[in-house]
Amino acid sequence: MNPQVDRLLVIGLGLIGGSFALGLKQRGCCRTVIGYNRNQDTLDKGLRLGIIDEAATDLEAAVRSADVIMLAVPVKVMESVMAQISPWLRSDTILTDAGSAKGNVVRAAEQVFGEIPPLFVPGHPIAGSEKSGVTAAKSDLYERHKVILTPLAQTDRNALKLIHSLWEALGAEVHHMDVPRHDEVLAATSHLPHLLAFSLVNTLANDRENRDIFRYAAGGFRDFTRIAASDPIMWHDIFLANRDATLKVLDEFTDGLAELRDAVARSDGEAMLGVFTRAKSARDHFTKILSGTAYSLPMNDNVIFKVQPGGKVQGQIRVAGDKSMSHRSIMLGALAEGVTDVEGFLEGEDALATLQAFRDMGVVIEGPTQGRVRIHGVGMQGLKQPPGPLYLGNSGTAMRLFAGLLAGQDFDTELTGDESLSKRPMERVAEPLRQMGAWIVTGPEGCPPIKIVGGQSLKGIDYQMPMASAQVKSCVLLAGLYSDGETSTTEPAPTRDHTERMLTGFGYPVECDGATARVQGGGKMTAAKIDVPADISSAAFFMVAASIAPGSDLLLEHVGINPTRIGVINILRQMGADLTLSNERDVGGEPVADIRIRYAPLKGIQIPEDQVPLAIDEFPVLFIAAACAEGTTILTGAEELRVKESDRIQAMVDGLSALGVQVEGTPDGAIIQGGGLQGGRVNSLGDHRIAMAFAVAGLRAEGEIVIDDCANVATSFPNFVELAKQVGLNLRIGG
Ligand code: S3P
Repeated sequence: MNPQVDRLLVIGLGLIGGSFALGLKQRGCCRTVIGYNRNQDTLDKGLRLGIIDEAATDLEAAVRSADVIMLAVPVKVMESVMAQISPWLRSDTILTDAGSAKGNVVRAAEQVFGEIPPLFVPGHPIAGSEKSGVTAAKSDLYERHKVILTPLAQTDRNALKLIHSLWEALGAEVHHMDVPRHDEVLAATSHLPHLLAFSLVNTLANDRENRDIFRYAAGGFRDFTRIAASDPIMWHDIFLANRDATLKVLDEFTDGLAELRDAVARSDGEAMLGVFTRAKSARDHFTKILSGTAYSLPMNDNVIFKVQPGGKVQGQIRVAGDKSMSHRSIMLGALAEGVTDVEGFLEGEDALATLQAFRDMGVVIEGPTQGRVRIHGVGMQGLKQPPGPLYLGNSGTAMRLFAGLLAGQDFDTELTGDESLSKRPMERVAEPLRQMGAWIVTGPEGCPPIKIVGGQSLKGIDYQMPMASAQVKSCVLLAGLYSDGETSTTEPAPTRDHTERMLTGFGYPVECDGATARVQGGGKMTAAKIDVPADISSAAFFMVAASIAPGSDLLLEHVGINPTRIGVINILRQMGADLTLSNERDVGGEPVADIRIRYAPLKGIQIPEDQVPLAIDEFPVLFIAAACAEGTTILTGAEELRVKESDRIQAMVDGLSALGVQVEGTPDGAIIQGGGLQGGRVNSLGDHRIAMAFAVAGLRAEGEIVIDDCANVATSFPNFVELAKQVGLNLRIGG
């Protein structure tokens, strides 16, 4: 890289300043790196270790010659150092700093210069360690660490750009923030934990028995207190510099600690579990953030699937738990009286979002651990107002069912979701809920966010559903639990009936009479045991995989075969697939079977419209089956596909066309000419089922298929790639 800076002066050659100097020097970003330190010995070491090119003995000359000056001194002396150098600063020299608190550094600059100079760019690298001093300096200290710059209104854009690019050259991830926000965030995430670590170790060290305590202290003590070995002087400076923000968060923490103390004193195990499970889930989420796999973060990284052509699938697997039932198990378990144990729970991001939302409403939920979840039900009236909007990620089911449940609560709520969910229609649930007396406001064009004003009294309605949607049906029935009198829904075609079945399992009577389901408001639920079968919608990818790849023979275990979900089996059989069901049984009110699929040549068909709602989530992969079949497949009556996680008709038409298939989209379906696929690149548009469908297509493609934007596979089938590879797909993740 060409040097961006002619002469860089780093004042203060500790860990932070030394690493900045060394990193830029090694990367060739500066023609000359000059170091200045009050302590001559430090400067000598800096020279000897190759951290700097020149050691400044005359600070005035060094400042006058510098194009960029980095102040890497303790925050406490920032003002005096600025005062010392100010008479010698050239008008074109860019000044920046690395102080851990920004409010006081900016105030110091104001004090010294009269006003904050436009060429001053305040900054803070979040990359310290408990080690300090020039000898600890490392050229890669900032790699993959965050650096926060806190420019002011008057900050010169070019100066900001230059400092930004220097940090980026060091491998840092650079963010911009305003000064008060920076100080608040750092008080919470860094200053408070240091204060607690210092305090805990000090308390224990004062104990007369401290020798024993330290002797036996193991992992917990070590992990919690590592940062108590940090530089005391530096931290004393930081608390003086960021007093107000630290006190604010310390007070919040003290209140939380007092509550926990109270719970321990009262032996209130449930209160403790509540705090611990919420904390654990937040910490687990943070671990995912650290490893870059957190789903609710904006996904900058494009997760790519690459599938090599050919192969066959063989073996015996159990796919992920049913998504629809996993959502409902949490919702109903939370509102039941007693403790509900769930097995086979889908640990995918959608169901986890529902779980987290109930935690946010005060429900104690243990797990999930290997599909096991324990829900401490709070009863129909036991939910508490969440502290903020409930974030439901990618999940339309969660948002629509929550709308029904929350319309009857006496507190206000707001429901939000990710980019895809924020484009999905919500008036389909808001409208019947309003008829019931709910106060509910949707966002622009009837999409999320949904705002629900609590405290309304709902009355039962008789709802003739305009579309076949289990989400709409479930939403109205769940609101019906909180309504006066009877609520009924009548659907134009059968849709999944998990809500009706599970309500019954929890002892809440539901009367089902053909297309109509009825509930009486004001009842209650009793905890139940739930065994969630494998999701037929996830199994469908493997059914199609085995059907299209010659030589395949695959057994899918414990798959839910609820009659409202088996459209995919019926359609594939009509296309000529060799599918056999065995070991059929009833598990907690839901039928389950093992499904064996062997390769058989498929033929194109006109898909019967009555099967469409029964296979609504399986069409992406059925399109792949159609592309591999002989002859034409025609789908009609499936306009609902246009408002799923993506416009699934368009996404499949675009993807198949890119793979050389002759396919034409229609308003309510598609016409697909079978015969096979070429390799190519397709975009899943962030839709999990589109991504997995094209992965399966690789088995019959003539070349490699590359699929963009696959991160959301984690919403419904987190171990898809692992299982796909296990049975024989030649799939790997890039990105
Ligand atoms: C679901 C219902 C279906 C389905 C979705 C899950 C449910 O949506 O597509 O994945 O759990 O109720 P619609 O009811 O809107 O068709």
